[in-house]
Amino acid sequence: MNVNTGKYNIDIVKNKFRELFQEEPRLFRSPGRINIIGEHTDYNDGFVLPAAIDQAAYVAVGKRSDDMIHLASLAFNETYSCRLSELRPSKSWTDYVLGVVDQLLKNGCDIGGFNLVLDGDIKIGAGLSSSAAVECSVLFALNELFALGLPKMQIAKLAQAAEHQFAGVKCGIMDQFASVFGKAGHAVQLDCRSLEYQYVPIQMDGIKMVMFNSNVSHSLASSEYNTRRQQCEQGVAWVRQYVPNIRSLRDVSQTQLEQYVLHRDALIYKRCRYVLDENARLLSACDDLKKGDIAALGEKMFLTHEGLSKAYEVSCTELDWLVEFVRHESDVLGARMMGGGFGGCSINLVKENAIDVLVEKVSKAYKHATGLTLDAFTVTTSEGSGSLD
Ligand code: GLA
Repeated sequence: MNVNTGKYNIDIVKNKFRELFQEEPRLFRSPGRINIIGEHTDYNDGFVLPAAIDQAAYVAVGKRSDDMIHLASLAFNETYSCRLSELRPSKSWTDYVLGVVDQLLKNGCDIGGFNLVLDGDIKIGAGLSSSAAVECSVLFALNELFALGLPKMQIAKLAQAAEHQFAGVKCGIMDQFASVFGKAGHAVQLDCRSLEYQYVPIQMDGIKMVMFNSNVSHSLASSEYNTRRQQCEQGVAWVRQYVPNIRSLRDVSQTQLEQYVLHRDALIYKRCRYVLDENARLLSACDDLKKGDIAALGEKMFLTHEGLSKAYEVSCTELDWLVEFVRHESDVLGARMMGGGFGGCSINLVKENAIDVLVEKVSKAYKHATGLTLDAFTVTTSEGSGSLD
């Protein structure tokens, strides 16, 4: 499938490939994502509502006749080479490329050596899933290059497995799914248990989705993320002692949480309670979006932020500040921190004609309050991963 390249100039990655390898590459693109609502629900078999955006990872690739992998990253201005049999994590950008190669080999896919140049325009560390975009773009590329015939769903799952094993983050499926299955003009309402999904048109007349990048980098993100996941699993395990057919928080009721978890550990209860609330909130927020009731959707986003900040405790001072600041602005219908947390962006539903004035006001006050520079930008939705040939 051919997809739009957004604002990125694809000649940059193409020319670098020609310069390094003296041949014509094949080109692939996978987008980053936003998530309108449904946070920390995916790994609890719950629901999410992400959309692919017009910021993406781009790769130029070509086959080799030996078993070498030659990589170059334009963003990091680095190159890296290894054999197919020598893949190892190194806590760097190469993990997101080699992690998927590792998955392909573990799944018995017949691949050989290749050359690859990586670039893109997704803001790194902003919570827009640049890592999932890289994983998916490399998988799409290798799938085509070596005629592996992997269906899209398997690409999303392999990308997630790469993140677990090479990057060490036990993420859910949301980011990779959105990057692969995104559709311009739509959000994807995904049931992370059955992986059934439906496209929901994003119809917000006169309202835009504006990102406020706190410019706080998520240093706690991966360790705390994995801890939250364990806390949810602990809650499920306690309920399962009494109700054996429980598989995940998706099956647990509020009453069961109170009966079997609250008296054992108030913190675990609080975490699980947030997930139950958020799942219910998402379903009703999807109805709001379908009905075009953006004010009601926006209110739920504020409630989600409250839950993420106070009960799930994955926000940070700067993100709390950003959401609190816009809460009483009449031109802002909804706002919350987005993604895994501990930094990155807040997502804001803002009346289009008020964006410029608001951004100026928030930026000044944010600098004054935190000493940090705010990056504000609007995002447009886009198609999911595809080839650019
Ligand atoms: C990160 C993970 C996702 C999801 C979100 C929180 O982006 O990669 O799987 O869990 O955090 O909703």
